[in-house]
Amino acid sequence: MSTSSWRALFDLPRDIAYFNAAQIGPMPRRGVEAGKAAFDAKATPWTRTIADEFFNAPEAARSKAAALFGDDAHGVALVPAASYGLSVAAKNITLEPGQEILVLADQFPSNVYTWRTMAERDGASVRTVSRDQGQSWTEALLDQINPQTGLVACGALNWIDGGRIDLVAVGEKLRAVGGALVLDLTQSLGVMAFDAKAVQPDFAVAAGYKWLLGPYTLGYLYVAPQHRSGEPLEENWINRAGSEDFSQLIHYRDGYQDGARRFDMGERSNHQLVPAALETLTVLEEVGVDAAANHIATINDALIEAASAYGLRADIPDRAPHYLSLGLPSDAPADLAAQLDAHGVKVSQRGPRLRVAPHIYSDEIDVARFADALKAVLS
Ligand SMILES: Cc1ncc(COP(=O)(O)O)c(C=O)c1O
Repeated sequence: MSTSSWRALFDLPRDIAYFNAAQIGPMPRRGVEAGKAAFDAKATPWTRTIADEFFNAPEAARSKAAALFGDDAHGVALVPAASYGLSVAAKNITLEPGQEILVLADQFPSNVYTWRTMAERDGASVRTVSRDQGQSWTEALLDQINPQTGLVACGALNWIDGGRIDLVAVGEKLRAVGGALVLDLTQSLGVMAFDAKAVQPDFAVAAGYKWLLGPYTLGYLYVAPQHRSGEPLEENWINRAGSEDFSQLIHYRDGYQDGARRFDMGERSNHQLVPAALETLTVLEEVGVDAAANHIATINDALIEAASAYGLRADIPDRAPHYLSLGLPSDAPADLAAQLDAHGVKVSQRGPRLRVAPHIYSDEIDVARFADALKAVLS
């Protein structure tokens, strides 16, 4: 598939430049069609097989998501939200009293509240790592990891400024002091390469409705091999061994399905959302993570050039190539995103910055619309 054919995979009107994948990713047409067909089938349940709806489709989605983490299907659980995956991690890691949990400044709330609650439970504390001027997030984090560090919770980037974190380096230093690594990859999985074997996180979660372009309420949790015999948050029947045989369900079993499947959310087979997610993951697989990342990086370069003429700065030296968060000039209007919206440009303001998040469907016409809108609003 070539970059020029990617836009046609989506139902995006030409008078909108959609740069908000970091907020909500638009689902490709094929995903939408699969979802509609799944809803239609809900009116005629006998037209789908138990094997497909309950087992084959979720298993296929699990397998495709697992490839994005750099693992196989045994390593991934189906979860409704990043917070759910983080709670699974918190339930299966215990800290010693006095140990510290490190989070980054301005981290996404689901990935802060979980650790505040865990700290209270274990008599640990949460410490927020900030970076100094000119320092990378990686340096700031490595600086703060010491024998007191029980856990680091972060992402592959800081979601406010887009600064990248070298997760291999963080993981290595953390393992040397016996700390756990829990990742929220919601803002990177699918458009930034990730290799669980190199990073070796304990847990890594990604909500599926942003860069993964999938339906809301279906995300993916990678679980490291040493945690795959841990305790799930819920005890759903389908996660138990032998659940494929519906005639034997009341012969209660102690064992679980293999690998990370024990951590699946209840009703993980979600008959309407899973087909949409599966088809969407298939589209992403056909595009490929590297090709998507390269395309988005190229679009971002063009956006940066357009923005620089109006004083918006790509001033984060360690910026993740797919994630553009622009510094605003001091006289920028407080409602800049709303004003750009009136010109058909969809972006977000997060903190004091403008987040511009293109995806595989973005092209030079979108970039030109962005440049025209900035000109209309700022000059
Ligand atoms: C970094 C990050 N993590 C997670 C989420 C979503 O969290 P949850 O799935 O817990 O609602 C978002 C949404 O904006 C996010 O930006």
